[in-house]
Amino acid sequence: MKLVTYALTGAFMLASTAAFAESHGAAEENTQQMIVEAALAGGDAAAGEKIFKKCKACHMIGEGAKSRTGPPLNDMVGAEVGDLEGFKYSKGMVALAEEDTVWTIENLNALFLKPRDFIEKTKMSFAGLKDEEDRANLIAYLATFTTVEADD
Ligand code: HEC
Repeated sequence: MKLVTYALTGAFMLASTAAFAESHGAAEENTQQMIVEAALAGGDAAAGEKIFKKCKACHMIGEGAKSRTGPPLNDMVGAEVGDLEGFKYSKGMVALAEEDTVWTIENLNALFLKPRDFIEKTKMSFAGLKDEEDRANLIAYLATFTTVEADD
């Protein structure tokens, strides 16, 4: 039930972000750009880098990042959930991907609060980050590794 709620929240957030983009005359492709900008504005990326130490046992980020226990985390903010080809996600992740869930700030925040609540039977064995500021800073840090392709 919780999973469904989160997925719906995600869809709703995306829809409202897209609506915002439209009302400001921007193309829908700019949605990811807007999520990235909001993530950067919402936290301190330098502080987030320190939090990311907790993730390094399983995730790589930056140039040359490869899959470890978890997928590499470049270009993740505002991207589709579970979109990395060749990575063997859990069924719970595949289900979220099939619902076209997007890594909005809200969804990343829910993931980092308690991975097990956001993804059913997730393979990500990480307890979560209780501090809201830590989560915001971490999301800002991840956003510095997300490059959105410019529109023509
Ligand atoms: C013990 C290993 C482990 C740790 C620690 C861990 N992760 Fe993960 N992470 C995974 C695995 C495995 C998956 C795939 C989850 C699944 O398939 O259920 C994942 C998935 C993710 C995803 C979704 C990726 C996608 O392709 O959509 C993100 C984002 C993520 N992790 C970020 C983090 C961050 C940030 C941290 C640190 C706070 C962290 N993880 C800590 C193992 C880990």
